[in-house]
Amino acid sequence: MQYVKLGSTGLDVSRICLGCMTYGVPGRGNHEWTLDEEASRPLIRQALEAGVNFFDTANVYSDGTSEEIVGRALRDFARRDEIVLATKVHGRMRPGPNGAGLSRRAIMTEIDNSLRRLGTDHVDLYQIHRWDPHTPVEETMEALHDVVKAGKARYIGASSMYAWQFSKAQYTARLNGWTRFVSMQNHYNLLYREEEREMLPLCADQGVGVLPWSPLARGRLTRDWDTATGRSATDAFGSTLYPEGDRAVVEAVTRIAAERQVPRAQVALAWLLHQDTVTSPIVGASRAGHLEDAVAAVELRLSDKEMEELQRPYEPHPVSGH
Ligand SMILES: NC(=O)c1ccc[n+]([C@@H]2O[C@H](COP(=O)([O-])OP(=O)(O)OC[C@H]3O[C@@H](n4cnc5c(N)ncnc54)[C@H](OP(=O)(O)O)[C@@H]3O)[C@@H](O)[C@H]2O)c1
Repeated sequence: MQYVKLGSTGLDVSRICLGCMTYGVPGRGNHEWTLDEEASRPLIRQALEAGVNFFDTANVYSDGTSEEIVGRALRDFARRDEIVLATKVHGRMRPGPNGAGLSRRAIMTEIDNSLRRLGTDHVDLYQIHRWDPHTPVEETMEALHDVVKAGKARYIGASSMYAWQFSKAQYTARLNGWTRFVSMQNHYNLLYREEEREMLPLCADQGVGVLPWSPLARGRLTRDWDTATGRSATDAFGSTLYPEGDRAVVEAVTRIAAERQVPRAQVALAWLLHQDTVTSPIVGASRAGHLEDAVAAVELRLSDKEMEELQRPYEPHPVSGH
């Protein structure tokens, strides 16, 4: 495994981050396709054994059960001070008023709930899962700063939003002497490259680490366009993201993978790992082989010609996933 600094921080993270949205009680929350605790634990252990030190979950994943499963597994298989644990806040955790969002009240409640479920006294990276248009950004940034000063989070990060929103949050924090975001977790892969317009240059300029979510386009980059899996058949959000025009990119991945005699997932992840702006893609692994491919992708070098062939069929997309 290779390790890099997360943006301009001194924090070492593995070049692969394990996405823990895959792990959670299937009947809870909004993902039917998740793996239960028994099926999840061997994959978390395998990731640790492969040198992955970076784990990403969220309060909202499987109604908090992702945090519970990940917290127990990491307690059993790892030393707390050797891992980088990330979670998120913003999603709806309860019906009714104050059950979601980025108010001071929501952030203070949700960090404590996440720490309890994870079974730890701090997270390494606390991320806002989305922009909250109903809360002043000053309120959100001051609350996040207070979470850091209370020792409950080491760093803060953000996730999918417009570049102007991210920039506004950062300069609000700077103007007030509050903690700034060190990372951006955004939707970026060979099928969705709109982030190359504004967000990625902003992150490069500001020294912000980039953690792409759904780096394999939720599996679409790993198989023939018309092939479905148990997850893809029930992945409501995923079914909105990739239009028919993306088929040509999947075919380019297929061609290069065949020439190289490696699985398609390795080629698609290697393309992302070749982007200067990218710190660690957050991979989803529901089988042992998925992790093996992710780890192998770190060492796969693509030629300039292969990179160009992978990129050529791209068609611009409407902005989505915010
Ligand atoms: N911030 C956000 O808003 C946000 C949004 C989405 C995700 N995330 C984060 O990003 C993480 C990853 O998301 P994701 O699961 O959508 O990522 P992904 O890596 O794009 O997709 C994972 C899926 O791809 C397939 N796959 C993975 N490796 C494969 C391989 N080697 N060969 C064949 N198929 C393979 C599997 O599909 P099957 O299971 O169908 O076989 C797997 O479930 C999440 O766990 C979460 O932490 C964040």
